[in-house]
Amino acid sequence: MGQQPKVYVTRSIPEAGLGVVREACQARVWQEKLPPPRQVILEEVSDCDGLLCLLSDEVDATVMDAGELRVISQYAVGVDNIDLEAATARGIPVGHTPGVLTEATADLTFTLLMAAARRIPEGIEKVQSGAWQTWEPMGLLGAQVWGATLGVIGLGRIGTAVARRGRGFQMRVLYHDTEHKWKLEEELGLIYASLEELLGEADFVSVHTPLLPETQQLIDEGALRRMKPQAILVNAARGEIVDTQALVRALEEGWIAGAALDVTDPEPISADHPLVRLENCIVVPHIGSATVRARERMAEMAAQNLLAGLRGERLPYCANPQVYQVIDG
Ligand code: GLV
Ligand code: GLV
Repeated sequence: MGQQPKVYVTRSIPEAGLGVVREACQARVWQEKLPPPRQVILEEVSDCDGLLCLLSDEVDATVMDAGELRVISQYAVGVDNIDLEAATARGIPVGHTPGVLTEATADLTFTLLMAAARRIPEGIEKVQSGAWQTWEPMGLLGAQVWGATLGVIGLGRIGTAVARRGRGFQMRVLYHDTEHKWKLEEELGLIYASLEELLGEADFVSVHTPLLPETQQLIDEGALRRMKPQAILVNAARGEIVDTQALVRALEEGWIAGAALDVTDPEPISADHPLVRLENCIVVPHIGSATVRARERMAEMAAQNLLAGLRGERLPYCANPQVYQVIDG
């Protein structure tokens, strides 16, 4: 039996995946709560065949050139922390975990939407602080979700799952995407809209695009000013899709009614940041996929991708399939 491949795992992940990796590889695992410093990653990959990483690790050409990685396996669906072009150019397949966190993330998106609409954090605070004294005819009035208009930007897996939930609440669901999704449109009763139309009409705007150069700060000052003053922005995708400074102003000056964010720019965000302090903004710590079930499945998939790459097989879930044109010549 040949020597086991060497891999570096940048954080302890659920045993469902880590156990599999440990069995097949010589695995070194970063055990701390915070991400490994860049220098540590550079040193660790220098003799590794594979890297299993998280969205908080920047994996760029320098990391790739620090060793001879044959596979990079990301424990997440989004891969904006990895330079995919650099990986492809070097013939390194990059794995990710689509599908298994879709429903968990859509659940969280809807949780945020409803919590913001019904001002749940303010209500909790009122009870906990002892300020609640009686049933109030006009206290904590929020927005009705049922029957409202939902705007979904990016009708991928997660956006579609959110749209389905919206339809369950008999919402009118507008979507914007780079292309018409005719089948889904018909199946779910969705309405295609330009970005401008969607922003102008939706009571709830929910962002579900990947982070790409084209979606960086897609929700900028102009977009926020187009939204209705009673509208709520929900972001469980990537913080950089929204212009943070513009959002702070929008919330302070009442261009929109509120925001609910699972992701922020910067991330993590400090406790004294205006977005955290503002009463009309809810921030939770990037927990979209944080269910026991989703995280176990993500760990299994990340392990499968890693091992496939080490064996020279196609990754079952590859984020840069173009790499096989490079590899196969
Ligand atoms: C989480 O944000 C992910 O991309 O999986
Ligand atoms: C996630 O699975 C997405 O692509 O929406």
